[in-house]
Amino acid sequence: MADQTPFSCIQELSAGYLASRCLHAVAELGIADALDDEVTEVGALATATGVNPDALARMLRLLDTHGVFRLENQKVSHTPASLLLRSDSPTSMRDFVRMFGLPLFWRSAELLSTSLRTGEAAADTSFEGGFWGHLSANPEEARVFDAAMSAKALGQIGAIIGSYDFSQFHHIVDVGGGQGHLIRAILRACPNTTGTLFDLPHVVDAARKLGDEGGRLRFQGGDFFTDSLPAGDGYILMEVIHDWAEDPAGKIIAAVKKSAPEGAKLLLIETEVPETREPDWSKTLDILMLTLFAARQRTAAGYQQLVAQTGFGIQTAIDTHAGISIFEAA
Ligand SMILES: C[S@@+](CC[C@H](N)C(=O)[O-])C[C@H]1O[C@@H](n2cnc3c(N)ncnc32)[C@H](O)[C@@H]1O
Repeated sequence: MADQTPFSCIQELSAGYLASRCLHAVAELGIADALDDEVTEVGALATATGVNPDALARMLRLLDTHGVFRLENQKVSHTPASLLLRSDSPTSMRDFVRMFGLPLFWRSAELLSTSLRTGEAAADTSFEGGFWGHLSANPEEARVFDAAMSAKALGQIGAIIGSYDFSQFHHIVDVGGGQGHLIRAILRACPNTTGTLFDLPHVVDAARKLGDEGGRLRFQGGDFFTDSLPAGDGYILMEVIHDWAEDPAGKIIAAVKKSAPEGAKLLLIETEVPETREPDWSKTLDILMLTLFAARQRTAAGYQQLVAQTGFGIQTAIDTHAGISIFEAA
């Protein structure tokens, strides 16, 4: 930050996690849900949510400095950012915040020096079966993770659909599509297209309950490392490749190549790391990928190189202007 001294830079960065933890705590305890449109006494909000009034006021005071809630004279009101913590917001990020507060994320971040020493995933040392194994065995954490994926994608889906002609495809396979938020939005925008959601069995079982888009969406549970993928003329891998190091990432793309009929296209939808020094969310995401998976967020050149080893070649890169790019490969 331009107006920071070296001392305050290190001071703020050293303890920046405390603001994150306040955000996790208020999201977990549903503080934003209990606050309506009215300016409310902190004490009344604390009573309504069963928390300590003094601790709540102090956490809200810190969050206020980041624009999350407004606290003045012990009275609290919403800001545009705190409204995103409400469960009933159409663009709610409550589960996204809760995901970062899960032990799976938090404990892995605590062990970041392990990743620094070894380059390995800290999550692998603390959670049996690693990240995906832990989620398979813990349904409530898996629910929060899947909901968080839908929440983060909601802010990007409109721009993705507006930036690319998905109606050229007859059948799209969304590989690792989570709850199906992207494929559902595409099918709604392209009435002549059908789709298949492919993901791990427990994820697909939950997604099926959200409906099949009038029979146009099929579901297939499986493992992209061992099972063959459904056939389609379009394949999507959105924020899947960043979860994997070079070798497994290449295997996933090769699995698409193996199942894809002649002429099919692959769309890698990923946040690219800019080659510049500016602050960028992708640089935070990259450290998350390191600590959780020993994986990485890649530059545009990194995606090109990875895809080139699989028989596909990236032909076009489209910036959606929503912090995510579409790399079209054929
Ligand atoms: C980071 S999430 C991305 C979800 C969604 N594409 C999005 O962008 O919101 C990665 C997805 O890959 C799925 N996944 C992980 N390992 C898998 C495997 N071996 N086979 C199939 N899907 C897998 C996860 O269940 C998860 O839904």
